[in-house]
Amino acid sequence: MRWGVWGENFTTAQYEKIINQCLEIGLTQFDHADIYGHYTTEADFGNALKSNSSLRGKMQLITKTGIQMLTPNRPNHAIKSYNTSTQHIKDSVEKSLSNFHTDYIDTLLIHRPDILLDPIAVAECVADLKKEGKIKSFGVSNFSTSQVELIAKHTNIEHHQVEISVTQLASFNDGVLDQCQLKNISAQAWSPWGNGLFTEKTEKNIRILSVAEELAAQYETGVNEILLAFLYAHPANIVPVIGTTQFERIIQAKAAMNISLTTEDFYKLWCASTGAEVA
Ligand SMILES: NC(=O)c1ccc[n+]([C@@H]2O[C@H](COP(=O)([O-])OP(=O)(O)OC[C@H]3O[C@@H](n4cnc5c(N)ncnc54)[C@H](OP(=O)(O)O)[C@@H]3O)[C@@H](O)[C@H]2O)c1
Repeated sequence: MRWGVWGENFTTAQYEKIINQCLEIGLTQFDHADIYGHYTTEADFGNALKSNSSLRGKMQLITKTGIQMLTPNRPNHAIKSYNTSTQHIKDSVEKSLSNFHTDYIDTLLIHRPDILLDPIAVAECVADLKKEGKIKSFGVSNFSTSQVELIAKHTNIEHHQVEISVTQLASFNDGVLDQCQLKNISAQAWSPWGNGLFTEKTEKNIRILSVAEELAAQYETGVNEILLAFLYAHPANIVPVIGTTQFERIIQAKAAMNISLTTEDFYKLWCASTGAEVA
């Protein structure tokens, strides 16, 4: 999301460089959505895959569908809305395949819970796409537990991408992470470094950063590592979906995998976020 025109706007050579750097350290999964960069980022990233055809086979591509964004790039959209019709999902997958110069997507996610989503139609669509080899796995993003339950009655939900971080604790308590463990759904955390944590000087963010800095000194590491270690402490095997444009921070994300926060240190961060001790 942040590598295209909504962020650093990498050139094809820059994409190729950072993709190679990621692959070299074993980070092989890349998160996209049809809408990123107002429908331009998949293609920008895909140009690197076209320019270096050895890359595609070494990575897994996640992309999303279901949001219709208002943009000059989609003049037929009259309002920002959701669309999970079979036609929309299939058209969107075809565009993603073409953007990435590939014949399969590793993971397709429905980006947001569409009020009009027909679970049986979506299940049939997913079955078709899998049968055709166009998608390898399927999941959702930002759904409630009951919305997941409804689709899961008709098709296998393999991934759920939600916002989870030390600033956004809801999924720990609203059943989403319990459901991921119960149903063997891979939990992906977007904005894992905490939306606005580094940019908005709120009391909550100041509290969190102060505890994270103390822990970073104690564990002889950095704040970024501690913030991801907070997620790794949870038994749901949360997969952070990082959005950095800096390779150094990608290295820090990898280093976080080797840090085991003690239970008390997890709760120091938890309480810094809530601003209260646990009951
Ligand atoms: N499914 C969904 O609905 C949904 C929604 C939003 C995002 N996503 C996905 O999740 C990905 C991650 O989201 P995100 O980018 O918000 O997550 P993030 O990884 O938590 O945040 C990345 C941002 O934080 C900055 N940052 C990190 N460490 C910093 C530090 N120590 N000091 C200052 N700034 C720091 C990064 O700047 P630098 O670039 O300078 O490192 C970047 O702007 C997105 O790229 C997208 O693929 C999904």
